[in-house]
Amino acid sequence: MTDVSGTGPAPGDDRKVLTNRQGHPVYDNQNQRTVGARGPATLENYQLLEKISHFDRERIPERVVHARGVTAYGHFEAYGTWGDEPISRYTRAKLFQERGKRTDVAVRFSTVIGGRDSSEAARDPRGFAVKFYTEDGNWDLVGNNLGVFFIRDAIKFPDVIHALKPDPVTFEQQPGRIFDFMSQTPEAMHMLVNLFSPRGIPADYRHMQGFGVNTYKWVNPDGDTKLVKYHWMPKQGVRSMTEEDAANVQADTLGHATKDLYEAVARGDHPEWELLVQMMDDHDHPELDFDPLDDTKTWPEQDFPPKPVGRMVLDRMPRDFFAENEQISFGTGVLVDGLDFSDDKMLIGRTFSYSDTQRYRVGANYLQLPVNQAKNADVRTNQRDGQMTYHVDGGGENPHVNYEPSITGGLREARYPTHDEQGPEITGRLTRKRIPRTNDYLQAGQRYLLLEDWERDDLVKNFIGQLSQCDRAIQERMVWHFLLVENDLGLRVGEGLGIGPEDVSGLEPLASQDLTDDDRERLAKLG
Ligand code: HEM
Repeated sequence: MTDVSGTGPAPGDDRKVLTNRQGHPVYDNQNQRTVGARGPATLENYQLLEKISHFDRERIPERVVHARGVTAYGHFEAYGTWGDEPISRYTRAKLFQERGKRTDVAVRFSTVIGGRDSSEAARDPRGFAVKFYTEDGNWDLVGNNLGVFFIRDAIKFPDVIHALKPDPVTFEQQPGRIFDFMSQTPEAMHMLVNLFSPRGIPADYRHMQGFGVNTYKWVNPDGDTKLVKYHWMPKQGVRSMTEEDAANVQADTLGHATKDLYEAVARGDHPEWELLVQMMDDHDHPELDFDPLDDTKTWPEQDFPPKPVGRMVLDRMPRDFFAENEQISFGTGVLVDGLDFSDDKMLIGRTFSYSDTQRYRVGANYLQLPVNQAKNADVRTNQRDGQMTYHVDGGGENPHVNYEPSITGGLREARYPTHDEQGPEITGRLTRKRIPRTNDYLQAGQRYLLLEDWERDDLVKNFIGQLSQCDRAIQERMVWHFLLVENDLGLRVGEGLGIGPEDVSGLEPLASQDLTDDDRERLAKLG
């Protein structure tokens, strides 16, 4: 027998044998095939070429945002009611109907701006995306931990993200670029007051809230619709970090929040969140000082009390990070019967963007991957082929019929479960306009006043720290905004930067904004 220098099995070794993807056993995984021990290699080195070329393709594009994250699994358990009322009065979505009904979930927590290996202690919104594998197909609720967002129109998303991401020349994240954009974006003030407070650095993923942020609809069995907002409240409580805390954590590890989640689940300390829903009638609510479809606003809890509808427990972690965390794909278009979109101008852009990027990032057949499949519903489509088709989606009786309509054994359309929806009728001219009632400062100011003293101090310090690295014109415009948000905030940040109200009183409002009477009064006082 020829002498081979592989590390062949020791007698009695009953471990399973390594093969290649063709099912051929690998006899030597240490040495490539060469002419003589030192000699040139030959091109028919199938095992070497397959191994290296697969390795060359191990990475897929990381998510353009939310690249760093971690997936966990568990279940959602419904309460069957919205407050004291049966939930069927408001939604016919099956997962919410019966008390105690369980639905499998996959959740992905994430940071937004950094790359796949970046720090989880960064000041950055956190993503909170939940995939419910319901019997009616999947529902994704793709939210964040802060409750509002920087912008209210999807057309601005690439700009806000470019400003927050590293400089395209030096690849350095720069306050000068971030606040250049923000200073021209008055609707961002509410988000900034949240993001630069301690809430902007959650202690880990288990101790943070989640919010759907955008406004959705519920549809009841009669087809009547309501506007809703979703909130996740952690049973573990909410914990945040200051910049100093974060620097210490980061000095030790960049992935503390992922580690924390793996360790908590492994020791049986299963994190839990309650899902609460705010609701309002489905129209534009002229009585409110904000637009219910504006994602830079929260709905006041005293007027629209959040009511619990269920709870979620996470008790299992992925077996493979790539297959279950990198390839999992969420989207705001992924809804089930009884849940619907609103006309929120961010939602339309989001709904296009998610599946568009996933077709590019993961591939045209990303929905056939186990983590993305509607595993608790039947999937039968006439979609066929494309790169990496894994199987034929269940078809009709006749495999020749991959089209609809057909009378020769193909699939048929479903019937609406009850009624079609009965939402409001909408008419109007095509236009490009801001929504009325932008009211960019009021809620930002209310949020500032709700903070505890130490949180306000921290917020002011963080703003001064960032803005002191910006040009004077940007500093002045930000102080101007802060004076309109809340006098105290503007005065304190201004003091830290050597800018008084008199220095900014001559600034004109931006062309991109509408002022309320209250804003005008504040502005008049500056002079
Ligand atoms: C991820 C687009 C606004 C929450 C993403 C991704 C894109 C995107 C392209 C990467 C998805 C992937 O590669 O699988 C947009 C656009 C927005 C928008 C165009 C505005 C028009 C928001 C808002 C929130 C949010 C307002 C929070 C409420 C998330 C989350 C993820 C994500 C949680 C990560 C999902 C995951 O873990 O895979 N977004 N986004 N996005 N976005 Fe947005």
